[in-house]
Amino acid sequence: MTGADGTSYDATPYLPGSRAGLPGLRRAAAACHGCPLYEDATKTVFGEGDADARVLLVGEQPGDQEDRQGRPFVGPAGRVLERALADAGIDPEQAYVTNAVKHFKFTVRPGRKRRIHKAPSLREMTACRPWLVAELRVVAPEIVVALGATAGKALLGPDFRVTRDRGTLLPWPGLDGDTTSGEKPSGTDAGIRGLVATIHPSAVLRADDREAVYGGLVSDLGLVAKVLGA
Ligand code: URA
Ligand code: SF4
Repeated sequence: MTGADGTSYDATPYLPGSRAGLPGLRRAAAACHGCPLYEDATKTVFGEGDADARVLLVGEQPGDQEDRQGRPFVGPAGRVLERALADAGIDPEQAYVTNAVKHFKFTVRPGRKRRIHKAPSLREMTACRPWLVAELRVVAPEIVVALGATAGKALLGPDFRVTRDRGTLLPWPGLDGDTTSGEKPSGTDAGIRGLVATIHPSAVLRADDREAVYGGLVSDLGLVAKVLGA
């Protein structure tokens, strides 16, 4: 994707060959300079979990803790997600967890230390998408879960709306050729039975009525468990 200043943001040149497994992808992503987010972040946060996972969950981007540890969903939102998966009857061993964007984007208020999360731009999401596509190809899950608006837009496009689209099994949109080799990964697509969108787990932490919002998250993930069990 080319910006107004003419520079293009794209992770593609940093991707290894299409035969690289998850360890090779993770190593390559650690050196990604596909967009400017690597400059201020600490570590690339690549996905983690079972390479044969039946469900692949996509968050937005790493948070403060994830950036320091280099691992996805290890902070407060991760604890909500872990509990919700368990309450929905999804074995974490069956899951692979990643993010739409692999580096932490944040701002720091003048005179303060705390790093405040900033939403990634469409340009950054698009630049980082080849990593997500590569993960989808290697893991080849049965169900993909979009956690929140950023993940939903990264997978389904800018018209995605969480409130409208959550909690139902949506048809898998297909992966559009922006992969390592450029060809359409039909083998991967064939195995994906659909996509379920839900809220981002951090929305539970921000909500006034945490129990109700948490219940909605568990209910949406319950649909995933049902599809996996069917
Ligand atoms: N929020 C996310 O979307 N991803 C993480 O890894 C942590 C918090
Ligand atoms: Fe590369 Fe994604 Fe990090 Fe940008 S956010 S530098 S595209 S890994």
